[in-house]
Amino acid sequence: MSRTLAGQSLIPAPCSGEGAVGALEGLSVDGHVAHFAVAFARRRGHQGAVEPLCNQTPDAWLGVALSDLGALLIDHAHCEKKAAAHAITLVNQYPEQSAIVTPLINLAQEELRHFRQVFALLEARGLTLTIDRGDPYVKGLMGAARHSRLERLVDRLLIASLVEARSAERLQLLGDGLSADGSADGTLGPFYSRLARAEAGHHRLFVRLAKKIAPDDDVKARLAHLAAIEAEVMLAQPLAPRIH
Ligand SMILES: [Fe+2]
Ligand SMILES: [Fe+2]
Repeated sequence: MSRTLAGQSLIPAPCSGEGAVGALEGLSVDGHVAHFAVAFARRRGHQGAVEPLCNQTPDAWLGVALSDLGALLIDHAHCEKKAAAHAITLVNQYPEQSAIVTPLINLAQEELRHFRQVFALLEARGLTLTIDRGDPYVKGLMGAARHSRLERLVDRLLIASLVEARSAERLQLLGDGLSADGSADGTLGPFYSRLARAEAGHHRLFVRLAKKIAPDDDVKARLAHLAAIEAEVMLAQPLAPRIH
């Protein structure tokens, strides 16, 4: 996962977002998962957020996420499905922006592949995809998007870049956490680490696409502004077995 963005620090200050290992210890989740997740969170420490994210996911999230792997996989499948649909929606709403159409078609194909892979994990576990209850995190971020047509496109691309960056951070946490858990399915950790690298690439792609619509300096400033909002919106979400 890249920890830089064009060699520039885009981290707005100040940011909150302290981890909460102690809170994890008090959770009534599966004892084994909680135990290893606490240990993992302690090893992880507070090494700083993934750029351009303003803060890092609270340590307690990992244990909660893994406390119900089925629910997590269902939410993850919906995320991949929505990522594919979002790419096509952008093409549908901005068909005249030729520079971004082909990259978005390619992205939609890759996200659909991810959806198929996660859905296969569900099927292998005898699980059924349930109704998507929506994503308050993404909805909260979209509230920050400007309204004029091109400004809104830039903001939607940058919000997508931040969602991808947060997804990359969390999928890597899952990858590391599952790989550290000897009792987990041995293929899941590497699977999530691979997906984390892909989503980090999507973060960078969306920033590049925004720069095809607006000047670089405007994109950098807007990304920093939206990253600060993303940090607050992320922390406002209850901890749950969800990607966001
Ligand atoms: Fe994906
Ligand atoms: Fe993605």
